[in-house]
This record gives sequence, structure tokens and C-alpha cells, in this order.
Amino acid sequence: MEKLTDRLPTKTPLDKILNGGLEIDTITNVYGPPGSGKTNIALCTVLGVVKNNKSVYIDTEGSFSYERFAQLGGTQKDMKNIFLLQVHDWDEQHKIVQSLEKMVEKEDISLIVIDSLVALYRLHLDDTNFSLVNRQLATQYSVLSKITRKHKIPVLVTNQVYTKDDKVELTSRTIARYWSKTLVELRKLEKDNHRVAIVRKHRSIGEGKAIEFKIVEKGLEETKKFDIF
Ligand SMILES: Nc1ncnc2c1ncn2[C@@H]1O[C@H](COP(=O)(O)OP(=O)(O)OP(=O)(O)O)[C@@H](O)[C@H]1O
Ligand SMILES: [Mg+2]
Repeated sequence: MEKLTDRLPTKTPLDKILNGGLEIDTITNVYGPPGSGKTNIALCTVLGVVKNNKSVYIDTEGSFSYERFAQLGGTQKDMKNIFLLQVHDWDEQHKIVQSLEKMVEKEDISLIVIDSLVALYRLHLDDTNFSLVNRQLATQYSVLSKITRKHKIPVLVTNQVYTKDDKVELTSRTIARYWSKTLVELRKLEKDNHRVAIVRKHRSIGEGKAIEFKIVEKGLEETKKFDIF
């Protein structure tokens, strides 16, 4: 395995606001509304390591598209370096996340992506299982946190949002905010494929650092830079 520095590039404009990319010993949570670019960022990040290193990519929504992967520069050969795990329900997700530590001890893994961590959580949650499901989500975060800290494998998760009193909030907000050392919010701008990414929490970068980008066939391209959003 190539030696990683303390940042793993996402190969997207996010690298500019994250001083180079994902910290390798934390959970980075990218959140935003549908179509804001979460899956694109997940794919670009995996593509950045795929030539030389292995990744785990957990897809909980059937969002992984080989066609999009190929547009972004991926090949069938690259797929051999991705453990692509398709998850269909919350219980399956819970089991798979708990089995990740064994997997990283056996395989040389450079990146773990979960897109999305909370889609199935949101579907599964009801009035009767609230505490259990929240406890399970916290357990999944604690497993991921242990892996990233112990093995120095960056973990990238995506997270849906909901709107309350005109404020955008992360689904599972208390748990997500507690366990994710880096939070990046994505917003859609008026112009079709234009988006903005804003640092909402980071151990060494000021909150509010933002970058505007657009989604094009080949990936994400910076458009205009904001200092404070
Ligand atoms: N080839 C392409 N050229 C331009 N834009 C594209 C291309 N492929 C996808 N997109 C754009 O990417 C956006 C979807 O981004 P993405 O799937 O990353 O969103 P997301 O945040 O993961 O959404 P969701 O919450 O629904 O999973 C759409 O606006 C789509 O038009
Ligand atoms: Mg998506």
C-alpha cells in the first residue's frame, strides 16, 4: 500500500476547503438534499485511490452506477479494487458495518465509503423502535470511529437532510454531529448544476469555508470561491 499522508484527496473542489482532503483518522460526513452531489463526491473519492489501493464502498440506496463511475474515469479493472457492498435493509447494514473491522484486518483497505449511512435508518425508524435504531446507528458510528482512529483509514459517509423551521438539519442530527469530526454541507444553487460546499465542523479549519462548484460529465469543477458563506 502507498503511504498516505494525513489527508486523502477527494479529487473534487472539496479538497480546497478541506486543506487537501479527508483526514485519515476521522469520519467525514457530507450532507445535503437530493441531487446536491453526495454520491458524486463519494465516487470521485474512491476513484482517487482505486488505481493502487483497495476501498470498501457500501451502497445503501442502489446509487452506485457503473455508467457514472465510467464517466468519471473508472474502468472495469478499477472495480476489482472496490469491495462494493449493496445493502438492502437496516438489519443488513447493521451487520455489515459491524463486520468491517474484521475486514480491514484481513484486507489492505485505504478508504471506507458509506452512501448513505442514514437512508435505511430513516426508512426503518418508527414510533416503536426509536431508541433501538438510534442505539444501532450510534454503534455503527462507534465501529467506524474505532476503525478510522486505529487503522488510519478515512471514512466518508453521506447523510440526508430534512428541513425544520426553514433550517436544514441532518437526519439523525445529534448522533451524526457527535461522531463526525468533519461535517460538510452541500447546497443546490439556483443555476442548474451549480452547488456549494460549506465546512460546518472541522478540527482545524474554520467553520464557513466554502467553495462553489458545478457537476459536469467528467466530475465536479470549481466555479467561484466564497470565503464566508
Ligand atoms: N454526466 C453528468 N453530467 C452532468 N451532471 C450530472 C451527470 N451525471 C449526474 N449529474 C448530476 O448529478 C446530480 C446528482 O448528484 P448526486 O447523485 O451526487 O446527488 P446526491 O446528493 O447523491 O443525491 P441523493 O440524495 O438523491 O442520493 C444530478 O443533478 C445530476 O444531474
Ligand atoms: Mg446519492
